[in-house]
Amino acid sequence: MPSPAQIKRLTPPVLRARKGGEPIVCLTSYAASTTTLIDPHVDLILVGDSLAMTIYGMDSTVGVTLEMMIAHGRAVARSAAHACVVVDLPFGSYEESPAQAFRSAARVLAQTGCAAVKLEGGVDMADTIRFLTARGVPVMAHIGLTPQSVNALGGYGVRGRSADEAAAILADAVAVDAAGAFSVVIEKTAEPLSRAITERIGAPTIGIGASVACDGQILVIDDVIGLFTAFRPKFVKRYAEVAQPIAAAAQAYAAEVRGRRFPGAEHVFGAG
Ligand code: KIV
Repeated sequence: MPSPAQIKRLTPPVLRARKGGEPIVCLTSYAASTTTLIDPHVDLILVGDSLAMTIYGMDSTVGVTLEMMIAHGRAVARSAAHACVVVDLPFGSYEESPAQAFRSAARVLAQTGCAAVKLEGGVDMADTIRFLTARGVPVMAHIGLTPQSVNALGGYGVRGRSADEAAAILADAVAVDAAGAFSVVIEKTAEPLSRAITERIGAPTIGIGASVACDGQILVIDDVIGLFTAFRPKFVKRYAEVAQPIAAAAQAYAAEVRGRRFPGAEHVFGAG
């Protein structure tokens, strides 16, 4: 039985119907604290496997497990009352077969309370997307730069630079759309290709470093607020700079505690 919060949340079919209309605003989140703050302002919250870098300090998303995604997915879904919550299927949890993908997706939906899963891949994943959607699992597809394949791709560069690669990415978009994806993330493609995909397919496109020629945009929350400082992708615009205030607060707190001037800490140090 869905909770009242789930009933009020935006759903995959509602977002699918926004194609060509009001831009779809998406952000990642991995925790209850940020979810509560961003939820009223966005349409979709992705519990992305980018948590590998933002939360766990890993070098890539390849080491993320289904258990990690479920733990963070549960925290986010519990805290969102408005936005549609989507959870990434991590590397190794869906590529083997449609049946493996369904087992993973069913666990994610049942154990987190999210509305949909996201998976990376195009033509090669179309049968899996068709299998999932036919069994009640809404799927957000992810094409262009697919970070889980970083070892095969050899890096995180722009995709679709050559005519052949652009044609292959367009074919990916058409395949995942025909398979029933309710939306398609396009990562790191140039504007002409992003525009061609957006005009060609029925599902809304959600761009990340893929120009304004998409039906919506997604960014990683830690990039948007300036919390993740290890590197900054060129396409990221920061709307806040929280790293310095956090470090300054910790420094001020440490100085007060070390100087035994911390108000309210009498219970730790003893009064006087
Ligand atoms: O893992 C992630 O955060 C993502 C988005 C940034 C698209 O896949």
